[in-house]
Amino acid sequence: MEINNINETEKNFDEDAKSVKDITSLEEVRVKYLGKKGFIADIMSKFREVPQELKKEFGQKVNALKSKIENSIEEIKLNLAKKQIEFEIKNTRMFDYSLPVDTNTGSLNPRTIIQKQVVDIFKNMGFVVEDGNEIETEYNNFESVNVPKNHPARDLQDTFWLSNGELLKTQTSAAQNRILRTYGPVCKVIFPGRVFRNEALDARHENTFFQLEGVVVGENVTVANLIYFEKAMLKALFKKDIEVRLRPGFFPFTEPSYEMDAKCPFCSGKGCHTCGNSGWLELCPCGMIHPNVLKMGGIDPEKYNGFAFGLGFDRLVMIRTNLDDIRYLNSNNLKVMSQFKTRM
Ligand code: DAH
Repeated sequence: MEINNINETEKNFDEDAKSVKDITSLEEVRVKYLGKKGFIADIMSKFREVPQELKKEFGQKVNALKSKIENSIEEIKLNLAKKQIEFEIKNTRMFDYSLPVDTNTGSLNPRTIIQKQVVDIFKNMGFVVEDGNEIETEYNNFESVNVPKNHPARDLQDTFWLSNGELLKTQTSAAQNRILRTYGPVCKVIFPGRVFRNEALDARHENTFFQLEGVVVGENVTVANLIYFEKAMLKALFKKDIEVRLRPGFFPFTEPSYEMDAKCPFCSGKGCHTCGNSGWLELCPCGMIHPNVLKMGGIDPEKYNGFAFGLGFDRLVMIRTNLDDIRYLNSNNLKVMSQFKTRM
C-alpha cells in the first residue's frame, strides 16, 4: 500500500510539474513535495510501518522519487531562467552600435592641447622637459634672475606675496636657477608652468596664465641658434616655414634682450584681424642669458654662454583660434571649450 502511495505521489508530481508557470509556482511545488512537511517527508515517516520484506524496495523507490523530483525541479528552474532571458532580449531596447555617438563629451582646454604640441616639438629637438614650483622663493623668482630688490623690473610683475615671504611665481624664469644648477653648463631644457600676477583682469590680462620657458647653455651658443630653434618650432606647429624678426627688448636676465616676432601665419604678413594689420605677431621675449644669471646658476660665464626665451601659451591659443578674450581660457565655459575639440 505504501508502494502504491509512492507511485501515486510520482503521478501527482508529474501533473503539478506540468502546470508550473513561474518561479513562484515552482517553489510551491518544491515545498509540497520536498518540504519538511511535504509528501516525501510524509512517506519517509511511514518507513517504520513497512513490512520488513518490502523495506528495501520501498527505500529504493522513495530515494529514486526524491532524486527525480529534485532533478526535475532544477531542470524547470533552468528552463524558466532561459525563458526569462529570452523574454528580456526580445523586449529590452538593446544598445544599437549603428546609432550616431553622442559627442557631447568633455574636451581638453585648448591651452593644454597647444602646450602638449609645443612640448612635443621641443622634446623631438632633444630638449629635456622640466617644470617648476608654483610657490617660489623671492630669490628664485627675482634675485637669481638678476632682479635685485628695488629693481624697477619688479614693478612690471605685480606679485602675490605669501605671508611667509614666499610668492606665487610670476614667471617660469623662476626655475632657471634650479635648472642651471641641475643640468648646466651644457643643456637644452624647457619648462612649462602656470604663473600668477596680481593684475586687474581684462580681455588681454589674466592673473593666472601659462608660459613655457627654454634655456640652452653650452660653449659658443649664438643668437642664430635661438632663431633656428624658434623657427623649427613654428614650422612644426603651423606646418609651414614662418619668418621671424628680432626687435631690441629689455629683460634683466638677458643681455642682449630681444622681442621675437613671427610673420603672421594667417595672412603671411599682408595684415589681418589676427595680427592687428601689422603683418607680425609678437611671439617670444628672449635673449642671451646674462652672465650674472649664469654665475648664480653655478656656471662660468667666461667659458659658457646660452640663450633663454619665454612663450605665452594663452597668447598662442588666442592667435591660433582667434579667441579675443583671454579670460575664457580660465573660465571652464563648456560652450567655449567644446568648440576647440576639432579646431586645434
Ligand atoms: N620671464 C619673462 C616674463 O614673464 C619672459 C621672458 C623674457 C623669459 C625673456 C625669458 C627671456 O627667458 O629670455 O615676462
